[in-house]
Amino acid sequence: MTGRRPRATGNVGRGWRHNGWTLVKVVALGGAMLVLAGCAGNDLPQDTLAPEGPIARKQDGLWDLVFWVATAVFVVVEVMLLAVLLKFRVKDDDPTREPPKQTHGNTKLEVLWTIIPAFILAVIAVPTVSLIFDLANAEEDALQVRVIGKQYWWEFEYLGEEGKKVVTANELAIPVGRQVELTMESTGQSDSDPLGVIHSFWVPKLAGKQDVVPGHKRTLLIEAEKPGVSYSGQCAEFCGLSHANMRLAVLAMTPADFEAYIEEQSQPQTTPTSGDAAKGAELFTQRQCIGCHAINGYEGAGARVGPNLTYFAQRKQFAGYMLENDINEGAENVSAWLADPQKVKPGSQMPNLGLSQDDISNLVAYLRTLK
Ligand code: CUA
Repeated sequence: MTGRRPRATGNVGRGWRHNGWTLVKVVALGGAMLVLAGCAGNDLPQDTLAPEGPIARKQDGLWDLVFWVATAVFVVVEVMLLAVLLKFRVKDDDPTREPPKQTHGNTKLEVLWTIIPAFILAVIAVPTVSLIFDLANAEEDALQVRVIGKQYWWEFEYLGEEGKKVVTANELAIPVGRQVELTMESTGQSDSDPLGVIHSFWVPKLAGKQDVVPGHKRTLLIEAEKPGVSYSGQCAEFCGLSHANMRLAVLAMTPADFEAYIEEQSQPQTTPTSGDAAKGAELFTQRQCIGCHAINGYEGAGARVGPNLTYFAQRKQFAGYMLENDINEGAENVSAWLADPQKVKPGSQMPNLGLSQDDISNLVAYLRTLK
């Protein structure tokens, strides 16, 4: 087409005024949204500014200090800026006015605005560096837990004083009043596969984030004080299709409850020999579930591509801690997961095995015995 470009017509000034107002409205609306976001409830489950443990509280204290220093700097700079703008603004429309006198370089001012920020940074550095050193080493009696970031779920491995090995998924039970040192790494398909991706472990009420990097071991300290609380957390680094579905919970319990928990979880299961559960247990081998999932006490099931299922029926949620574990009720969520894992959690390593309704209900019967 060779048509002429349409010329801009109409009153340009009016257009400007119109656009100007739109801009003001957009900025005002955006600002209002930002301010109103602060009106959200006070007991949000992942509020990093409402710490509930000694380690998170120390980190939050440092955040508060930096926040108030930054606020003071902002206020001082803005007040000076506004004062200068108002005092030296053009007060008439005289077109013959000479431009203001230009100054280049002022040693006194330059030294001053180098020294003041350097001083502020030095003041902030003292508590920052000291807290970094403080949190670099765990207390001697800290509970040691190995954390492995997988696509897309968390594996937790305890090796207790008595050598009782417990492996769980997405649910991390910890005793209150005791530091927990998490040694974290990321692997791919299995424990020996080093080709993982970067995740980030974050339970906002208990500690800051820590990246979980393939080929590296990173540590993070957490500590809770209130027993009976479930702290929610999530992966905080984009790691693939189901990054948003990679959640977790830290279950804080009394030391006695924790001891009982480890004792129980370290017991092997007995494989059912009759009824639907026995059929389900058989399917577990036939349909290759065994190739990825460990169940202590189930002969041949030791792989760690997928979550260890030894006490699956006790877990509150599953599938990256996204779905309520309804295995003991209607098992609708569990059945939907078995029928088509990719639909529930895109990119999951769990394949669609093409299970029939009978297969699923038998597997559900078997999983129900894992309590
Ligand atoms: Cu793992 Cu995001």
